[in-house]
Amino acid sequence: MVKKPFSMSFDLKTGNTEENKTTSRFLSNMKDMYMDVDKAEEMIKKEDVKVYDFTELGFDEVEQDLLYGTSIVYPGKVGNEYFMTKGHFHTKLDLAEVYYCLSGRGYMLMETPEGDWEAVLLEAGKAVYVPGRWAHRSINIGDEPLVTFFVFRADAGHDYGTIETKGYRKLIVEKDGKPEIIDNPKWK
Ligand SMILES: [Fe+2]
Repeated sequence: MVKKPFSMSFDLKTGNTEENKTTSRFLSNMKDMYMDVDKAEEMIKKEDVKVYDFTELGFDEVEQDLLYGTSIVYPGKVGNEYFMTKGHFHTKLDLAEVYYCLSGRGYMLMETPEGDWEAVLLEAGKAVYVPGRWAHRSINIGDEPLVTFFVFRADAGHDYGTIETKGYRKLIVEKDGKPEIIDNPKWK
């Protein structure tokens, strides 16, 4: 499909836009990804809180195109582990992505299938380049929404299954009021 130029607005504080479709992930959609699953289940019984939203353009996934939108991770913790996105590799593993932080504070936690990992601080005005082969997950360490704007090649695809099965090698938890990166005891 040939497209015409267009523009849309995103709120810098909330990441919201009227033009994009929004998908929400609740704690019940990802409880097994947290270190303390019992705690997650206990929380869900009281209230199945929303962990994050992301907005999407409804384009076909073709290599000529780019997809962009916002990711909004809400503040919160399961035990001492911060709220985060599920995280994913791209189905076309070699394809990269850029995230630009609009507001909030957090980390982009990344790892490769070979075992390299990086945690890059996200704060307003900071752009993170996620090269091909690096799984990526954003983690909110602050007390307001962590809002990032992302762009990637439209045919990259999302592989959530690998992270769901194996977990991430590293986790970010709060210790003595500060974020600390630890080994994931559940990593396979
Ligand atoms: Fe991605």
